[in-house]
Amino acid sequence: MECSRIALGQGAISVSRVIAGMWRMADWGMDVQARAGLIEACMEMGVTTFDHADIYGDYTVESLFGEALHKLPGMRDKMEIISKCGIKLISDKRPAHNVNHYDTTAAHIQASVETSLKNLGTEYLDILLIHRPDPLMNYDEMAEAFTRLHTEGKVRHFGVSNFTAVQFAAMHKRFPLVTNQIELSPVNVEAIEHGLLDVMQDLAVPPMIWSALGGGQLFASDRQDTPLMRLLQTVAADLGVTVAMVIYAWLMKLPSRPIPLTGTGKVQGIRDAVAATRLDLDRMTWFRIYEAIRGHEVA
Ligand SMILES: NC(=O)c1ccc[n+]([C@@H]2O[C@H](COP(=O)([O-])OP(=O)(O)OC[C@H]3O[C@@H](n4cnc5c(N)ncnc54)[C@H](OP(=O)(O)O)[C@@H]3O)[C@@H](O)[C@H]2O)c1
Repeated sequence: MECSRIALGQGAISVSRVIAGMWRMADWGMDVQARAGLIEACMEMGVTTFDHADIYGDYTVESLFGEALHKLPGMRDKMEIISKCGIKLISDKRPAHNVNHYDTTAAHIQASVETSLKNLGTEYLDILLIHRPDPLMNYDEMAEAFTRLHTEGKVRHFGVSNFTAVQFAAMHKRFPLVTNQIELSPVNVEAIEHGLLDVMQDLAVPPMIWSALGGGQLFASDRQDTPLMRLLQTVAADLGVTVAMVIYAWLMKLPSRPIPLTGTGKVQGIRDAVAATRLDLDRMTWFRIYEAIRGHEVA
């Protein structure tokens, strides 16, 4: 099954309806051939968009991906690469950091992108996201940094991640953003309940969704006997699909058109997310799941 696509930035760019998240790549224990094989398998099923951040895998994942991409000549221009900046972690790789902190200065944004391009082995990022809202961020300065990177051809489109509705609006009016990458899953429905998804829908800016499966915690063996998991298992069995597919379909029914990121290194897990793009849960099933998430009826 071929993954469909979704337009962002009023059609300025399109990404695959399911995005392959690369955060955990360093944990997958794959050699370079296996990493290249995973990228190829994603591309073959139409999952052409890959999500990164400078910090993933303690600053190693972009290089692991770049090394694999180097084995796939001609592939770069058929895919979209997202990366992020703005978090500085204590790390052997960054000895100057003596406290975890955020840095959204123009100088850091520029330097971080240049390092990401080098590590990924690419001339440009399709989308750059500011990873987390920084209490010290200056929206005008970030917009200037975006303008410079765009003019230099180093980044084509920009977005943010984990921004509140107010923070998103403040940045979006200075520089048109293509997304806000946020957490949303059956273990965290804040974006539904606190109005962030309503704002994204109103602005016609589809959010990207991280940890759609709750970071895997929903699948822990001691969590299977909860009302939510029992319901998800029943719905999945009735429809002849997996629990993960039901969760992805539940998220994608939201009218703000959330774009889920996968977190697995297993091709079948990514295939399930793609298959879920064709799974339309009926309204009552959607609400039965919502009721189980909330632990009480909506009325
Ligand atoms: N912007 C941000 O602040 C932010 C934060 C976190 C993540 N992200 C992005 O979002 C992506 C996805 O996040 P995530 O990794 O937390 O996603 P997730 O899909 O919620 O969690 C992935 C974890 O769930 C496990 N899993 C998936 N399907 C499973 C199944 N059917 N049964 C059992 N375990 C299953 C995976 O294990 P297996 O590998 O064994 O399948 C993996 O450990 C990341 O790669 C990253 O790109 C962004």
